[in-house]
Amino acid sequence: MSAPLNKKVFIKTYGCQMNVYDSEKMADLLAPDGYGVTEDPQEADLVILNTCHIREKAAEKVYSELGRLRRLKERREAKREGMMIAVAGCVAQAEGEEIAERAPVVDLVVGPQTYHRLPELLKRVEKTGGAVVETEFPAEDKFNRLDKPAAAAPPARGVAAFLTIQEGCDKFCTFCVVPYTRGAEFSRPVERIEAEARALAQSGVREITLLGQNVNAYHGEGPNGEPVSLSGLLTHLSAIEGLERLRYTTSHPRDMDDELIEAHGSNPKIMPYLHLPVQSGSDRILAAMNRRHTRDDYFKIIERIRRARADIALSSDFIVGFPGESDQDFEDTMALVRDVTFAQAFSFKYSARPGTPAAELDGQVPEEVKSQRLARLQDVLKAQQLAFNRDCAGRTMDILLEKPGRHEGQLAGRSPYLQPVHVPAGTAQIGEIVHAKVESVGANSLSAHIVGIQ
Ligand code: SAH
Ligand code: SF4
Ligand code: F3S
Repeated sequence: MSAPLNKKVFIKTYGCQMNVYDSEKMADLLAPDGYGVTEDPQEADLVILNTCHIREKAAEKVYSELGRLRRLKERREAKREGMMIAVAGCVAQAEGEEIAERAPVVDLVVGPQTYHRLPELLKRVEKTGGAVVETEFPAEDKFNRLDKPAAAAPPARGVAAFLTIQEGCDKFCTFCVVPYTRGAEFSRPVERIEAEARALAQSGVREITLLGQNVNAYHGEGPNGEPVSLSGLLTHLSAIEGLERLRYTTSHPRDMDDELIEAHGSNPKIMPYLHLPVQSGSDRILAAMNRRHTRDDYFKIIERIRRARADIALSSDFIVGFPGESDQDFEDTMALVRDVTFAQAFSFKYSARPGTPAAELDGQVPEEVKSQRLARLQDVLKAQQLAFNRDCAGRTMDILLEKPGRHEGQLAGRSPYLQPVHVPAGTAQIGEIVHAKVESVGANSLSAHIVGIQ
């Protein structure tokens, strides 16, 4: 039996989906100690900032939030109410002690590989009264701890869920902090993932997105001790009753193997959407980024995947203004975008990250050049997204109805291509996959009406 919910935790999540997953796990871990989740920091006994270090702006947000929390904590203390503040995630890992020094309001700094020890670390804070910093990469397996019943049987949070299957990265792209904040690549065993997926399906989840910083490099231990690839894992998970849709993110072009590509053609539970970051269309820049593939390799992968699954929607990440990027290099990126055409994309100005090799390179690109390039790139990407959405008008597609929509009598769902879709329907239909005809499209979402049920 769990303790009564007499304390409240507010968790603010920054960064990628893996942080979203970690935040949910933290909430699950704290539940047996009597913590219930609140959306209001004002009433929280514990505030956790689950942070991201990927770009400078992401990291700086943490300190401005800590400034606001300091004032809140002072008001609470004036009323003789306690409030603990923890910084978790990738800034915690990268900056450790520095955070507690720069922001003395922080009681606990806990890295992404140690948050499974949150309950005992909080007790240590209560006992010592000083700041506790825990950012080791311990030998014990975090996931082993997370698989204990309380955390492994999470409360239902909706009909679409994330599931981390692989963590860390050995690729060392020269611009990226992830290998330093998340450590070496690690794949969870198939049986553990299956158990978690089954528990999610039993609690009403219809769609799972498998997560990893390098998800298609997955090579977890299979039931008979043999390593299993991502395509193998997808086959295992496809057998789970009630689970209708599978997605995975983020993939690296180097790890798009033939079997995985074939799986997109043969396994109907794998959704026809692939996020495959390319970062740049210039061979010179790709080499300097240590991406270890060429633009032509990328075109070939796209060709193969479209042959396996003609209607696949593609998405990508781009960085503009990597050190040494010339006008011509940037034009190569623009040309790649025009050649491939993306349904969605994320694009960023290069941000020099302390400790990464690219931060030391000559030829850092001026801020205004980065801004101009980003604006031009985003114009094309936005136009492509709108064109993709427009192509959907009049089509009938399967929509997973996920949650109440913005308006009464409307639900928000997702198409197979991950587009948000507004559908007139009642809340009793949440969790259904319906056939719906798209009647209008916008830049970021579609509207459809139900014509049948799957
Ligand atoms: N593992 C994924 C990416 C993870 S980070 C991959 O290999 O593609 C998510 C995205 O953030 C990256 O794809 C990249 O586009 C962007 N990014 C990472 N480091 C960055 C930096 N230093 N400056 C700007 N963008 C960055
Ligand atoms: Fe970062 Fe590259 Fe690893 Fe992606 S593959 S997480 S960009 S180092
Ligand atoms: Fe950010 Fe860490 Fe994810 S740096 S993008 S939260 S892995």
